[in-house]
Amino acid sequence: MVSVLFVCLGNICRSPTAEGIFRDLIEREGLADHFTIDSAGTAAYHVGSPPDSRAQAETKRHGIDIGGLRARQARHLDFTQFDYILAMDQENHRNLMAICPPGGEHRLHLFLDFASNPGRRDVPDPYYDGRFDAVFDLIEDAAKGLLADIRAKHL
Ligand code: 4NP
Repeated sequence: MVSVLFVCLGNICRSPTAEGIFRDLIEREGLADHFTIDSAGTAAYHVGSPPDSRAQAETKRHGIDIGGLRARQARHLDFTQFDYILAMDQENHRNLMAICPPGGEHRLHLFLDFASNPGRRDVPDPYYDGRFDAVFDLIEDAAKGLLADIRAKHL
């Protein structure tokens, strides 16, 4: 089993989108039995909330239903429970480093380090600018890169 946790700030826009896209990808590849997937936010503002309606609409447009997800906050324990912890941006990465137990750092990655365009480091926060379409495309691309990396190392 490989366990994967996607993390953004609020856990209502980018990381639930990533969770939905990655789950859809592994289901279509017939690999669902090999994975545990979850998402979380570094902040607690939206704990218990479903994904932002705009994130739900964008994923639905691509045939992916994330309406059942509920936000939770990332915690210290995640570093012992997840093999891959994917930060959506550098600020999320810094905030995760702050709760990372000694020796857990190798589990933490910038999600876009798995993207095909190596120049970009951050999935931009769509909460204020509403660019959920661009975020979907970036996440989909990096999700494929992440799966390729996991396949090569674990499957
Ligand atoms: P996310 O987006 O980190 O992609 O879930 C945000 C959601 C909420 C807020 C900021 C970003 N907020 O400030 O409430």
